Amino acid sequence: MSDDRQLVRVADKAALATVAAEQLLAQVDANPGRVAICLTGGSSPKQLYELLATEPYRSRMPWERVHWFIGDERFVASGDPLHNMTMAREAFLDACAPPSNIHPIPTDGIDPDACARRYADELQAFYRADRLDPAKPLFDLVLMGIGPDGHTASLFPGFPAVEVRDRWVVGVDHAHVAPFVPRISLTLPALASCRKMLFEVAGQDKRAILTRVLSGENLPANRARSEHQTVFLIDAAAWPENFRDQPDV
Ligand code: 6PG
Repeated sequence: MSDDRQLVRVADKAALATVAAEQLLAQVDANPGRVAICLTGGSSPKQLYELLATEPYRSRMPWERVHWFIGDERFVASGDPLHNMTMAREAFLDACAPPSNIHPIPTDGIDPDACARRYADELQAFYRADRLDPAKPLFDLVLMGIGPDGHTASLFPGFPAVEVRDRWVVGVDHAHVAPFVPRISLTLPALASCRKMLFEVAGQDKRAILTRVLSGENLPANRARSEHQTVFLIDAAAWPENFRDQPDV
């Protein structure tokens, strides 16, 4: 399989957040209409989110026409410290984005499957179709992280959710790694429907799993690819040994 993923090496976590913010703004600027960004949870994107609420990014962002979705959620109440969209809200959305442009995955339903169906309805209403058209990506940008077991979003290795092709969002009744709460996750085809997928990978503890992902192992973080462009932003600490020759951005 040819690998057209682009790897970008940055010095450290601060540089990673700055480069990610620039790439996010470039995707926004490339679309003069209504923009859709799919955020991610976990700790990796927090610095980027905080940066977006500060100058010069805050003034450069056309907040009125940017819509914020999220690729996966933990099945806990909004406001819970484990809730991914709450982290993004506290880091930047509540201070900057119009409330109607924030699209959290509901977690107040009876079970993760019911919440997944509601979020699929919301995405399809936004997209104005219930079939994904490769010529019309759902998202301008999808942000992703890599878990220690090679999961991405809440698609865990070997779990049936990874193979789902006929739904946009699925309930995941248990997690493979902490926090051990049920999840709701976009599926690989929904995540792939984007102009750009941007992975943020930082810290020495990510180096081993990143090496496995980039070597093509059958892991969700390897199988998650944009139909258009996939970029890995990697800091020096996470950069795999055998790719050492690339200069920092
Ligand atoms: C989640 C995430 C998950 C995350 C990775 C990386 O809800 O846990 O969306 O896919 O991106 O586990 O997490 P860290 O950034 O915390 O390493």
